Amino acid sequence: MPQQHPLTSYITQARSQGMNNEEIIEELIKAGWKTHEILSIVLEHALPVPVPGASSAANSGEIISVRGITKAYDQLKALDNVSLTVKRGGVTALLGPNGAGKTTLVRVLTTLLSPTSGQATVNGFDVVSHAQQLRSSIGLAGQYAAVDEILSGRENLEMVARLYRLSPSESKNRAAELLKQFDLQDAADRPAKTYSGGMRRRLDLAASLVIKPKMLFLDEPTTGLDPRSRFILWNIIRDLVAGGTTVLLTTQYLEEADQLAQYIFVLDHGHIIAQGTADELKRQVGGDVLELHLTDHQETEKAAGLIKNFGSGQPLANPATGVVTMPTDQGASILVEVVRQLDSQHLKISDIILRRPSLDDVFMKLTGHSTEIN
Ligand SMILES: Nc1ncnc2c1ncn2[C@@H]1O[C@H](COP(=O)(O)OP(=O)(O)OP(=O)(O)O)[C@@H](O)[C@H]1O
Ligand SMILES: [Mg+2]
Repeated sequence: MPQQHPLTSYITQARSQGMNNEEIIEELIKAGWKTHEILSIVLEHALPVPVPGASSAANSGEIISVRGITKAYDQLKALDNVSLTVKRGGVTALLGPNGAGKTTLVRVLTTLLSPTSGQATVNGFDVVSHAQQLRSSIGLAGQYAAVDEILSGRENLEMVARLYRLSPSESKNRAAELLKQFDLQDAADRPAKTYSGGMRRRLDLAASLVIKPKMLFLDEPTTGLDPRSRFILWNIIRDLVAGGTTVLLTTQYLEEADQLAQYIFVLDHGHIIAQGTADELKRQVGGDVLELHLTDHQETEKAAGLIKNFGSGQPLANPATGVVTMPTDQGASILVEVVRQLDSQHLKISDIILRRPSLDDVFMKLTGHSTEIN
């Protein structure tokens, strides 16, 4: 009697326990099985593979609804009574510093974590009572990277395409398309183990987009990427959105939220502390921002102390960069006063600017601290 492949018995058992194919595949990838091994068994046993996004969820205007979600770890509330809604289409950003609760919220919404209390639905499916259906209707990038180190980038993508039951020629085309889109053509036929960190991340993301999901969650998709890779990724996200995908992304980069998102939720210590379009958030700061660049960085704090009475809010000194910023509603007249004041104390500046508020300023005003990344 021929020996049964260990995966075959696992799949049979998992199916008898009511797991669907997508969950089984996800578990196998997590357990370290490579896509080509899973694929060979899936094809051999002709197990139907579901297509993400093929769900029959209601096509309402709202794709995510969160009502009073709390996630507690002992005393710590990673999410504290969070409520929000995300409209279908476009990019929505969850912006917040380290530990704000961004990943926790994404994990709750993708059913990887159950909330302590509250309700949430994605695509009309409840995160707790309809977790299976919810999972087959979304894409989640970067969580379970299905990248096989030994295979080339092209082989990896073709493999994933075959897993989703595209024909061999469709798989080839889709892989070629993604390699071009993710600027991986030059490295396409090298083993993935020779890829740099940034290339690897792009391949991970490409693999999660073989089948275009209706709803895609991206948890800090560009953290650690160089500016070029980040730019490539932003364009890919824009293309996806143009094709009808709704994207929820988390980021610590204010510029990323500003560039990509039509709507932004600002999260801090498990609370939504502000929300709106980038422009609406910037208007909350009001007026202009005065920005001073000190020639001698050691004098930054002193300069902030000298000018504090001229602003409409507190100045913020950054001795590392020699920059002081301060909100003001006086218009250009503040420039003369500030220069006179600094001059009287012999503090030299290399630049003085009056500009519109940025999201950094918004964050500073709301939280009293910066995101510490940008
Ligand atoms: N399994 C866990 N057990 C205990 N505390 C946790 C656990 N997971 C997260 N936390 C805490 O919950 C809070 C929110 O964490 P979360 O990972 O959601 O933050 P984040 O906004 O994604 O941060 P980052 O930008 O660093 O990824 C943090 O204080 C974190 O330490
Ligand atoms: Mg996180």
